[in-house]
Amino acid sequence: MNIKGKVVLSMLVVSTVVVVFWEYVNSPEGSFLWIYHMKIPEVGDSSRQKNWWWLPSWLNNGTHSYQEEDVERGREKQQKEDSIEELRLWDWFNPKNRPEVLTVTPWKAPIVWEGTYDRALLEKYYARQKITVGLTVFAVGKYIEHYLEDFLESANRYFMVGHRVIFYVMVDDASRMPSIHLSPLHSLQVFEIKSEKRWQDISMMRMKTIGEHILSHIQHEVDFLFCMDVDQVFQDNFGVETLGQLVAQLQAWWYKADRDKFTYERRKLSAAYIPFGQGDFYYHAAIFGGTPIHILNLTRECFEGILQDKSNDIEAEWHDESHLNKYFLFNKPTKILSPEYCWDYQIGLPSEIKNVKVAWQTKEYSLVRSNV
Ligand SMILES: *[C@@H]1O[C@H](CO)[C@@H](O)[C@H](O)[C@H]1NC(C)=O
Ligand SMILES: *[C@@H]1O[C@H](CO)[C@@H](O)[C@H](O)[C@H]1NC(C)=O
Repeated sequence: MNIKGKVVLSMLVVSTVVVVFWEYVNSPEGSFLWIYHMKIPEVGDSSRQKNWWWLPSWLNNGTHSYQEEDVERGREKQQKEDSIEELRLWDWFNPKNRPEVLTVTPWKAPIVWEGTYDRALLEKYYARQKITVGLTVFAVGKYIEHYLEDFLESANRYFMVGHRVIFYVMVDDASRMPSIHLSPLHSLQVFEIKSEKRWQDISMMRMKTIGEHILSHIQHEVDFLFCMDVDQVFQDNFGVETLGQLVAQLQAWWYKADRDKFTYERRKLSAAYIPFGQGDFYYHAAIFGGTPIHILNLTRECFEGILQDKSNDIEAEWHDESHLNKYFLFNKPTKILSPEYCWDYQIGLPSEIKNVKVAWQTKEYSLVRSNV
């Protein structure tokens, strides 16, 4: 072969390598990759994230094989990204419809109230994405009989209707799992967890367990994940308007209060400490969500704080919720849900609560907690 031929040949080889590599980059090697890259329409989200941190582990992965399926998935993902570009916050979010409440945070994240979102538009958009949404719920001891069935039945009816949903149910005794009739797009995975003696520990260990499950399987199975308490019940659609990278829930009792009244942890010794004069909102640990990668970080940080407190022999006033509030202080939620998404009817029904999506169940602590 002459020099020219060699040059052409080597250029061909190089361009093939580049094309193969590029297809790989665009293929969802585990949904992990594209979850991280997925563009979600939120305020201030104008720059596309570029993260190459996974590259070394890919280069070390001798088992990876390039397959046609990957190309197909890569194409699907490209379409996903293309259509994602079309939707902007102001296309679906209309805060002017609710002038009597706070609808945008100082860092320009939407606070979703009934009437502020265009559900039809969002539905059309997310249907094209073919998203899957996960929902974790924990029920231990008497919580199983008292709350789990109502929670799951109502979630099956109202949570992300029309989209693929996976319920991740963590119980201490799978044999007591109620039988739930699920709609075709919904599925359920049940896991047995070790029961802790104190409900405070159950609540705090939740962070660790969620993190472990995200790492071992959830990150590959869903695009978005919500984590909820079991002692509540869905009453109306909890839909795609709630999806975001990092989603926090306003606590029904505190959404109008002055920040210095919030029941943040105020002792300096605790990792959850928030000084007076700081903090944005009081968030409720009964509902939080986001992309798996963001929830993984959240659960890790909160659990670190809990461990640090344990070694200092201190327990934050509201346990995991205190640590969650600390996390959201430094990692601002990209979307906040109004108290309509987690309402306590004991408060009554003020005029701004137009549509209750999830309601607290009566908390029969003396019945369900062994230590009150
Ligand atoms: C290596 O690649 C295989 C096959 O694609 C995949 O199942 C596995 O999770 C990868 N491992 C790492 C560490 O990336
Ligand atoms: C994870 O949490 C830490 C501690 O709050 C924060 O500094 C970091 O930016 C977070 N990372 C992501 C990807 O959210």
